[in-house]
Amino acid sequence: MCGIVGVYLRQDACLPILVAGLRVLEYRGYDSVGVGVLQGPEVVVRKRAGRIEELEKALGQGDLSDASIGIGHSRWATHGAPTDDNAHPHTDVAGRVAVVHNGIIENYLEMRRELEEKGVVLSSETDTEIIAHLIAEELDCGVALDQAVHRALGRLQGYYALAVLIGGDRPQLVCARKGPPICVTATEQGAFLASDALALLPHGREIVFLEDGDVAVLAPASITVRDADGRVVERPARRIDWDAQASDKGGWPHYMLKEIHEQADVVGRCSKGRVNLARGAVELGGRGFTDHELRKIARVQFLACGTALHAALVGRYMLEGLAGIASDVDFASEFRYRQPVLSPQTLAIGVSQSGETADTLAALRLAKELGCSQLAICNSIGSSMVREADSSILIEAGPEIGVASTKAFIGMLVAVYLFAIRAGRARGVLSEKAARGRLEELHKVRPYVERLYGEDMSARVEGLARRHVKAKGFLFIGRGVNYPIALEGALKLKEISYKHAEGYPAGEMKHGPIAMIEPEMTTVVLASNDAVASKVRQNIEQVRARGGPVICVGSDAESMAVADEAVEVPEVGPWLSPLLNVIPLQLFSYFIARELGCDIDKPRNLAKSVTVE
Ligand code: G6P
Repeated sequence: MCGIVGVYLRQDACLPILVAGLRVLEYRGYDSVGVGVLQGPEVVVRKRAGRIEELEKALGQGDLSDASIGIGHSRWATHGAPTDDNAHPHTDVAGRVAVVHNGIIENYLEMRRELEEKGVVLSSETDTEIIAHLIAEELDCGVALDQAVHRALGRLQGYYALAVLIGGDRPQLVCARKGPPICVTATEQGAFLASDALALLPHGREIVFLEDGDVAVLAPASITVRDADGRVVERPARRIDWDAQASDKGGWPHYMLKEIHEQADVVGRCSKGRVNLARGAVELGGRGFTDHELRKIARVQFLACGTALHAALVGRYMLEGLAGIASDVDFASEFRYRQPVLSPQTLAIGVSQSGETADTLAALRLAKELGCSQLAICNSIGSSMVREADSSILIEAGPEIGVASTKAFIGMLVAVYLFAIRAGRARGVLSEKAARGRLEELHKVRPYVERLYGEDMSARVEGLARRHVKAKGFLFIGRGVNYPIALEGALKLKEISYKHAEGYPAGEMKHGPIAMIEPEMTTVVLASNDAVASKVRQNIEQVRARGGPVICVGSDAESMAVADEAVEVPEVGPWLSPLLNVIPLQLFSYFIARELGCDIDKPRNLAKSVTVE
């Protein structure tokens, strides 16, 4: 979704830095883009619907090359179509103030009317533009920019990350946060802000994440943060050690393919330092739960969206099976508008790659209000979820750029598995020996993961994709711990190839989806050699009896023998087969999308991180 960058340099040109920052944020999804810079005392704005290349054309040949202070934005339309006018930055009538904004101003219609009644002519349909006018009104009262921002923000309801640029004799760059993230870093050469730490890494690794209500004033080598009460506060800097190469394609044709190939490393990183094989123990560190607290949990409520929800669904099986904790999973967007009945002994677990998904964040906040303790399973170190939850487990997947989540999913599965073993030990459900056995299984999984995207397997799945690309639709079915993998396989295919695909629990097939079976409908069956293998085999027979082609993915040899085509996956412990089975499905979607010429890393209409409802 929307991205913000800003820079105040001592002397050099800021435009290349703004454009490079916007490129780093491209992966989040956007439909228009713009920059505002100071040329002398003047605020100059250039913005365009479309991709960064359109903006670069509008920037022309260097007429803004001496500007050293500026802000930039990539917009994912919410209020108003993706047009040049609606693109950010937005300015006040006199053109003194430029604003870029992520989030939503809920009382914008009211504020818009108020401004129009005062004779202000608005030039866009966005909620953002009113912020520029409100700041200008406050500046007219003679206050400094940070105070003007503070006062203007006091008149707004909603959520925002903002960067504000003011021209004139005393140029200033300010940013503010209430909800969506904004982070800053400073060096001798300048000060930098962004909505995503990835865009700051070329400039510094000590990153300060603003808290809700903060307003920060940036100048070269200086960042002054004031809290919601206007007091100057010190916010701790967090060191981000992500490898600078981690966010570039490194020779791969697509980020998605690169990230699929990083999954064995994610298993390693997520387990590193957390597994004590000798003691059959998991040590999660940080603000973890004590044994006593883990014993008191009566229920777990998972909250998540998209791929993270599928990881949570697998997590339910893990927590029930390994720790004996009754678990529910809900779409965060549904949970937050129900009247959920949760006892304070419920642990709410938010699962999220970004840690910023608006629905998951709101659902976790609701669980907190209901008195539940919360755990965030996240990839993003300084994210809102990690900061707000009582405890967190970082999945250590590194930056995930492809919109379709792959390696983060694997990291989530490993993190939930470790948490389930930790809880199982604390609650006396798992003996030391049993826990050691489960941890050894995890250890064995890593080379299997790697093998599943090796050359042989990739070639095999690529062949399958070619043979099935023309299918009218796809049905993915699985049972037990692999039912969520059927959902994930279908979601991946929809997201990047736009093919119609449905994921279903295999046992439900006869209650509806079986009516769709015909030779043009491909059924992908997850068939591991586990307790439900014979049931899954029956489903394969049912599809074949109706003339539907079946691709079988898993370790059950008998299922493979009755399917039309098969992808053999090594056999592993009962809760770990999802980690392996999902990989051929990721590759299958990738190759189908590639056959169809789709924009794999930036699928239409999707955003990497959905920070609005
Ligand atoms: C978006 C992305 C999905 C992702 C979901 C949840 O829809 O396109 O890939 O699974 O958000 O994101 P989160 O950051 O909370 O895991």
